Amino acid sequence: MSKRTRGIPDSFVDWFRGSSPYIHAHRGRTFVIAFGGEAVADENFYLLIHDIALLHGLGIRLVLVHGARPQIEQRLNARGVEMQYINGVRVTDEAALTCVKEAAGAVRVEIEALLSMGLANSPMAGARIRVASGNFVTARPIGVRDGIDYGHTGLVRRIDAAAIEQRLDAGAIALVPPLGYSPTGEVFNLSAADVAASVAIALGADKLISLVESKGVTDARNRVIQSMLPKEVDTLLGGRRRLPEDLVQHLKGALHACRSGVKRSHLIDRRQDGALLKELFTRDGIGTLITAEPYEETRTARIDDVGGLLELLEPLEEKGVLVRRSRELLETEINQFTLMERDGMVIACAALYPYPQESMAELACVVVHPDYRGDDRGDRLLAHMERSAKALGIGQLFILTTQTAHWFRERGFVQGDLKDLPMRKRELYNYRRNSKVFIKTLAG
Ligand SMILES: CC(C)(COP(=O)(O)OP(=O)(O)OC[C@H]1O[C@@H](n2cnc3c(N)ncnc32)[C@H](O)[C@@H]1OP(=O)(O)O)[C@@H](O)C(=O)NCCC(=O)NCCS
Repeated sequence: MSKRTRGIPDSFVDWFRGSSPYIHAHRGRTFVIAFGGEAVADENFYLLIHDIALLHGLGIRLVLVHGARPQIEQRLNARGVEMQYINGVRVTDEAALTCVKEAAGAVRVEIEALLSMGLANSPMAGARIRVASGNFVTARPIGVRDGIDYGHTGLVRRIDAAAIEQRLDAGAIALVPPLGYSPTGEVFNLSAADVAASVAIALGADKLISLVESKGVTDARNRVIQSMLPKEVDTLLGGRRRLPEDLVQHLKGALHACRSGVKRSHLIDRRQDGALLKELFTRDGIGTLITAEPYEETRTARIDDVGGLLELLEPLEEKGVLVRRSRELLETEINQFTLMERDGMVIACAALYPYPQESMAELACVVVHPDYRGDDRGDRLLAHMERSAKALGIGQLFILTTQTAHWFRERGFVQGDLKDLPMRKRELYNYRRNSKVFIKTLAG
């Protein structure tokens, strides 16, 4: 082992390489990140700030929207008063407003201080981050409802997107407190979730990311639900299940954002160290993604997929691109198939036939439905199949093709010979078809 690589595990290299597609994809994008005052009060808040600084360093345009609830409550308690809630909505009287202003100011200073760190040998060394806050949010009072005056509790009326864009264009991180100002010069106490969703919509942000104080949205077995459509969020919010208040607020924000053009809203567990990085730089993430786009997944085929697979394969079999497979054969070999499903429809597939003795596997039937080509699905499927093969201890993939040779060559396959194939495969070779053999040695 050379001196330079001593002590650096291979997993680091794999992890870093694995994150590169996301680094490219996120650069220049705008993300709005919302977190509560709980995150700021946490002794590990600096770790979240380090991760935010890293995102900034990777060229992501960031708007941070913070809450200040515990800080407000602390100040109210010190004065011997309590925040009043009516039907889940807080009432901000004069005394409470003073606490809101103080708390929001203190939180802002705290965040600015942490983002200004630059100690040598710390993750912030050389970061030199500029933070810009301001009167970006115009608010109006909730007003009097059912005879109850909600005082200085307000709603977002308008976001000065141009002013935020200007700060982002200048390379700063924009910091937006849960406060808004009215043209009459008053201050209003707002919900951070409402502010974050409104900012994301006004900016046309690529993502709204809400760091919540729980695991996120979970199913009946307490597993995090990876992806939800807006109508599923509607059902959840309208149902009888009791959810933490901050989760409800952020789900409502995500729903609003999603229906107003923000493509992706993520809800992730703030309490997990590195949650932001795990969500943004790994394929599956750790939280719940709310997106209006149909949900797509890559998975092993099951017996009830045979119909969908036949529909995908038959047109290509007729053209002679693929060897014909009967329904019976597909049924027997169904476990060999991996497919991409989009809203219940099979839109791509590939099959893997391992020859463990030779440490080889045949890759076959790599197909993307014609309506879904041109979006890198073939590449993603190939990468998936390579990972599956590696997990089985396979060192080389081979493919027999008549019309797609160049596609595979451009992806690291090199022309081979019949004699390079496992004996059992050679015996089955169809000389009339005269397919070419291509082989790829899998790295690592
Ligand atoms: C090969 C395939 C899976 C790729 O799907 P995809 O990821 O959605 O990508 P596209 O079809 O948009 O093609 C991606 C690139 O590969 C090229 N390509 C597509 N088919 C090709 C072929 N038969 N030979 C060489 N290059 C090909 C495209 O021109 C495109 O390159 P470009 O953008 O530089 O022009 C898909 O084209 C397909 O299903 N083809 C028919 C089935 C097939 O031949 N499978 C192999 C059988 S073993």
